[in-house]
Amino acid sequence: MSSSYPIDSEDLPTNTSAGEHFQDVVQRAFSRRGFLKSGIGLSAALFLGGLPAAQAKGVGGAAPQPSRLLGFTAIPLSTADAVQIAPGYTATVFAPWGTPLIAPASAWKADGSDDAAAQALQVGDNHDGIHFFAMDGRNNEGLLVVNHEYTTVEDGNYVWLFGADGTQPWTADKADKAMNAHGVSVIHVAANVDGKWSIQAGSRYNRRITASTAMQLSGPAASHDWLKTSADPSGTRVLGTFNNCGNGWTPWNTYLACEENFNTYFGTTSGQDTRNTAQKRYGLAAGSTEYRWEDFVERFDYAKEPNESNRFGWVVEIDPFDPASMPKKRTALGRIKHENAAFTLAVDRRAVVYMGDDQADDYIYKFVSEGHYREGSKTADLLDSGKLYVARFSDGPSADGRYAGRGEWILLDKQANPVLAADTNFSSQAEVLIHTRLAADAVGATKMDRPEWVSVNPKTGEVYVTLTNNTKRAAAGPANPREKNIYGQIVRWREAGGDAAAESFEWDIFVLAGNPVKYTDRADLRSGSANINVDNTFNSPDGLAFDPHGRLWIQTDGKYSNTGDYQGQGNNQMLCADPVSKEIRRFLVGPKQCEITGITFTPDIKAMFINIQHPGEGGDSHWPDGGASLPRSATLIITKDDGGIIGA
Ligand code: FEO
Ligand code: CA
Ligand code: CA
Repeated sequence: MSSSYPIDSEDLPTNTSAGEHFQDVVQRAFSRRGFLKSGIGLSAALFLGGLPAAQAKGVGGAAPQPSRLLGFTAIPLSTADAVQIAPGYTATVFAPWGTPLIAPASAWKADGSDDAAAQALQVGDNHDGIHFFAMDGRNNEGLLVVNHEYTTVEDGNYVWLFGADGTQPWTADKADKAMNAHGVSVIHVAANVDGKWSIQAGSRYNRRITASTAMQLSGPAASHDWLKTSADPSGTRVLGTFNNCGNGWTPWNTYLACEENFNTYFGTTSGQDTRNTAQKRYGLAAGSTEYRWEDFVERFDYAKEPNESNRFGWVVEIDPFDPASMPKKRTALGRIKHENAAFTLAVDRRAVVYMGDDQADDYIYKFVSEGHYREGSKTADLLDSGKLYVARFSDGPSADGRYAGRGEWILLDKQANPVLAADTNFSSQAEVLIHTRLAADAVGATKMDRPEWVSVNPKTGEVYVTLTNNTKRAAAGPANPREKNIYGQIVRWREAGGDAAAESFEWDIFVLAGNPVKYTDRADLRSGSANINVDNTFNSPDGLAFDPHGRLWIQTDGKYSNTGDYQGQGNNQMLCADPVSKEIRRFLVGPKQCEITGITFTPDIKAMFINIQHPGEGGDSHWPDGGASLPRSATLIITKDDGGIIGA
């Protein structure tokens, strides 16, 4: 959220009240018919064939009203090695991997032969989370901050980072280059009068943060023994951030980079599996890693530096407007495989951050700050103290029958939670935070289908989360209704009293992704919910963001075979949904074997920035340069040809 976004009232749906949605009506009907008692689960029942076709189209069988929120023409699936976008829009490639950023950066070498020093001055690899920080509210100039999640390794070989050489020979400089391809870029961008965006060369704001950048551990867990290493006896100074997946941002103009699969960077060359219970719970490899940094940098060998991995898995706050500032890992927000960090404010203006832990059967979390946000007030430590909660989803319905289920936020506090108070695995709150997953296990949180991005509807305060898939799910549950879930779903919830700091909520399923091309029997959960059809079918929702007008943008990171269970779904894509009518339309399709991720806008919503990540992974893309070129992750700048608002 940003207070600088203007609101265009003409662009709002006609009904923005908290009034009934179609689904609410249906839920009530199904409740009356006793579906809940049948054991089938309301959320599942909603989407099953028990819903007559006529009813599935709308209340009383009437066709749904066309969405006034979605103003573009949907596009078909694509399997081309190119970006496809709705008619009347243009997508321009911007700042691909290797783009010179900081003087004296050299031009990117198309054979992948740039060394570590060159990479340190260039844009990193595998773009993911992104945010545009407008300068003084301007629509044509700002700081574009981009995560570089990882660099692609397949079967133990770096596929593109070193060009045709791959991992062989494996050298210290290559390991260093890989570390420099990770992290975050801060890019000072501006558009000229023709709307053409460029990097402001020589700007003092241009910055690379890598796996070697000095940063601070702050908050309740800082200085704990488990965060101390031989290089840092204080437990407060750490080098680098990596596997920065999704992101968040605060109203005080800082960026939140989320450390996701940090575990995949820690292994050992010792031949001894000395991992403890927590290291296994977080998924550290028994032996060597595919990234192989541990071959040259001792801190990545857990047998040599057992605590180094505890210094990753955090949310990192970065001030892009102060290039000299040291990024801070905010331990109060817990240590998980952080996907993104969705910031909002409670009624009393405490800071609230929603977070998913992206692993099959892991959890959804919420942080509520102790202090209150006031515009212009001191915010430096707002994310350093507060309460951390984990979600438990129960069957419903809500008291008013409008939501399928209820839920509660379980406080992860060593003193206040009797379960944790009695648990000898945690001797302090710092240990609860460093071993957040184990604490959440102990209190009975609900295992989810891989929580990815969370986003808060700016119109209603409802919170949406993508649950991308969970092919390992053994037993269906209310918010995770499908065993061996290959398509994923989006769940939304309403906090009690409309207050983001509440300790209970009510939830329902916004869309159960599915494939009605393959599964034509709507009684089959695999065909998806009623708002899925042969024209908008997709799998594995991942990136998720509301724009300031309340359109819900959905990005996918799924299977792109376009065969079998995924027939008719094509390459990964971005869709847009109307949260009231629930209509979903396909807006953009990416090139081959990419993921679409990251989303941000200029304040006037006339330019949108998203990322194309890892085109060609496991395949044969040459996007964006074509020919026989190495594929490159890149940002896309999307504009409407008539200069209008994106999506309207
Ligand atoms: Fe980096 Fe869960 O996606
Ligand atoms: Ca993701
Ligand atoms: Ca994903």
